Amino acid sequence: MENFDYVYNVVKSKLSEKRFYHSVCVMERCIEYAKIYGVDVEKAKLVGIAHDVLKETPNEIKIKEAESLGVELDEIEKKALGLIHAKSGAEFCRKEFGFSDDMCNAIKYHTTGTENMSLLEKITYLADATGVDRTYEESKIAYDMAKKDLDEALLYFFKRTIEWNIEENKLLHLDTIKSYNFLLNR
Ligand SMILES: [Fe+2]
Ligand SMILES: [Fe+2]
Repeated sequence: MENFDYVYNVVKSKLSEKRFYHSVCVMERCIEYAKIYGVDVEKAKLVGIAHDVLKETPNEIKIKEAESLGVELDEIEKKALGLIHAKSGAEFCRKEFGFSDDMCNAIKYHTTGTENMSLLEKITYLADATGVDRTYEESKIAYDMAKKDLDEALLYFFKRTIEWNIEENKLLHLDTIKSYNFLLNR
């Protein structure tokens, strides 16, 4: 696996200043949560800095880029292009940085969540939602929850995400609904 400085510099070269700052904020929360929940800090740190590495690929080439990385997109992802960077980013990090499966899955599910998430997947999802660059109230509420109970914070944030998508007439990814159902039934 490539070392941290290499990953950091590649990510920096691919993102705007604002998006890179977001990535650093997510990395810092990943480290914080990893320490609380006994997750490998080095893995969490790398996943945090790299999770949005392909976020700024232009919309016109997102589907092509995914195909070239061997990523299969579902019907919703082909319409909601904002979701694609998660799956594509995971494969990019596997090929370019040598990230392990558990790390790639944390990137793959950082936008939608999934059923029965691993600790690394949970802390990455919540780090993305609760970095210091997020200024909305729900982010602060989720941050306070996440330090005490990851599942409570996740359920809270899935609910908000589903509400926001509905209000904005956006497609809901089935993984988000599955994640929500899974946490309610646990
Ligand atoms: Fe993202
Ligand atoms: Fe992000």
